[in-house]
Amino acid sequence: MSTGEKARGPSAPGSWLYVYSDGGSRGNPGPAGIGGQAKDESGHLLLEVCEFLGEATSNVAEYHALIAVLEACEELGYDRVRVRTDSELLANQITGAFKVKSNLLRPLHYRVKGLLDGFRVVEVEHIPREKNYACDALANRAIDEGQSGVLKAVLQPGDEGLFPAPVACDGPVPPERRRRNEPVISRTKMECCVIGTGYVGLVTGACLSDLGHSVNCVDCDSEKIDALCQGEVPIFEAGLEAIVRRQFASGDLRFTSDVHDAIASSEFIFITVDTPPDSEGKADLTNVDSVAREIAAAINGYKVIINKSTVPVGSTRRVERKIEEAMDEYREFDVVSNPEFLREGTAVSDFQKPARIVIGSDSQKAIMRMIELYRGIDAPLLVTDPVSAEMIKYASNAFLATKVSYINAIANICEAVGADVREVSLGMGYDERIGFEFLKAGPGFGGSCFPKDCRALLAISVDSGYDFNLLKGVIDVNREQQERVVKKVERVLGGLEGEKVAVLGLAFKANTDDIRESPAVKVTRMLLEKGAVVKAYDPQAMDNTRRTLSGVEFADDPYQAVRGADVMVLLTEWDEFKWLDYGRIGELMNSRSIVDTRNCLDPAVLRKLGFTYEGIGR
Ligand code: UDX
Repeated sequence: MSTGEKARGPSAPGSWLYVYSDGGSRGNPGPAGIGGQAKDESGHLLLEVCEFLGEATSNVAEYHALIAVLEACEELGYDRVRVRTDSELLANQITGAFKVKSNLLRPLHYRVKGLLDGFRVVEVEHIPREKNYACDALANRAIDEGQSGVLKAVLQPGDEGLFPAPVACDGPVPPERRRRNEPVISRTKMECCVIGTGYVGLVTGACLSDLGHSVNCVDCDSEKIDALCQGEVPIFEAGLEAIVRRQFASGDLRFTSDVHDAIASSEFIFITVDTPPDSEGKADLTNVDSVAREIAAAINGYKVIINKSTVPVGSTRRVERKIEEAMDEYREFDVVSNPEFLREGTAVSDFQKPARIVIGSDSQKAIMRMIELYRGIDAPLLVTDPVSAEMIKYASNAFLATKVSYINAIANICEAVGADVREVSLGMGYDERIGFEFLKAGPGFGGSCFPKDCRALLAISVDSGYDFNLLKGVIDVNREQQERVVKKVERVLGGLEGEKVAVLGLAFKANTDDIRESPAVKVTRMLLEKGAVVKAYDPQAMDNTRRTLSGVEFADDPYQAVRGADVMVLLTEWDEFKWLDYGRIGELMNSRSIVDTRNCLDPAVLRKLGFTYEGIGR
């Protein structure tokens, strides 16, 4: 299968290769298949492709069919090709007569363009359906047999009977890893290195190797690297440990501190280092700059350098400049913006099933390589310019933060007018323009991203001369939300001095051990400052909290935390808190009083048990 090299000239000088393809689905989208043939000028069949695509639309199938045949033809050595298709849309799109608007089709379109770039002369012809019967038959056969689980691959003339296992993949793709619309087209194992093994780096490195690539994860913290080589994963993230251990054992995932060697032996270089905020809230790029210098020192051939750290607008150009300045001899490279949208707690599935993949680059070559790298991930691929890609990251996070601050502001009005914010957000969410996501009122947003990215975007807006009042409001509402929670507890207790407060939850949200900018920790700190005696419990985040917050007594379990307490304050929506025995909790507490800042308990049940209950916005 293809290695992407340009064709070396025809077996018969000047002769044409004829490529026929057809893809179709039963039910748009529906079960889809592709068929294709390549013939020489005398009509002699050179090869055939017949493959089941799983669930796809016809247009997508049309593109996959052409890609599969062109890929199979790369080794044949022709430099001129006549593409014949009965899809008018496809014919006009690849000639450029029609613009490709669909994000689903765009990456496939780039792939076809790239493959056709391998020929010196290209002609495209729209042929009537009946002239393409063979490919149509192959595509239908693929659907019939594909649905029965028989995978198809490239057929060389003379191949008989049912088809062998897919070509070029390392052995057959196990069914559980085969996505419904993932074509079994050859996927090359790419050499990647990921610099920085924090949240983003470790998840990216592990999942890239799980995708079939060979990955070097690099970090200057050699102790961390040693621990990772022992299979010790320093972060609590669902599914990550299993992938790290499996891929490390397979040899496709390696951990090293030797950044030079890792860069030299890789084509794809991911920058996933920390960009902490400086005193003005701007992202500090010291780590990114030092990686750029490392790359300049180690570059030994074409490299695709991928900015995955959250970096200010214009950073792609900046990294390019830094590398060029530091290179002693010019070598070809491209820098791509490829922002991540991983959420803590669901980062592995967010990588494997992203809402979209954003690629910001002006280099067709780099875009093509990136599409190849992410082949096998079933998601819309948005190809755009670097600056827009960088803005997509900030704009997305700031918008989600705006939704959270908005519903918190609405919750505060609900409290005053006697409405229930949960009902209100439900009523809002049915409107698809609003959606249900990120409309849960609570103690405000936290974590390593939203607060930092909102401040960084505000700094970018100031530098660009735009007064971003809306975002200032989002940040202010968020800060006030923690203060409002403390006031609520104070009001419930009639003061805080010497009062025993049981805090359930310290992580900034459930299913993570992360307390960075955690609203729960901020509220706890304020309670302590006002003289409360705090006993806290969190299933995962107590170690991290011990390192940053003193004056708190940590409990082994929620029941120990509430023993003798005057109030219980629920600050993180861990599932286990919803299923506690509240009868027993009531008996253990000094007085039956609950402040539920995540609205995840049932007030009616608790009131029946004699509790006073305060939520947020209800
Ligand atoms: C976020 C983005 O979701 C992710 O795409 C990006 O890559 C990184 O930042 P994360 O920081 O893991 O991910 O947290 P997220 O799940 O988005 O929650 C952010 C904060 O908002 C948390 O404190 C959470 O408790 C709060 N939140 C979220 C609410 O208060 N209400 C909601 O409805 C949703």
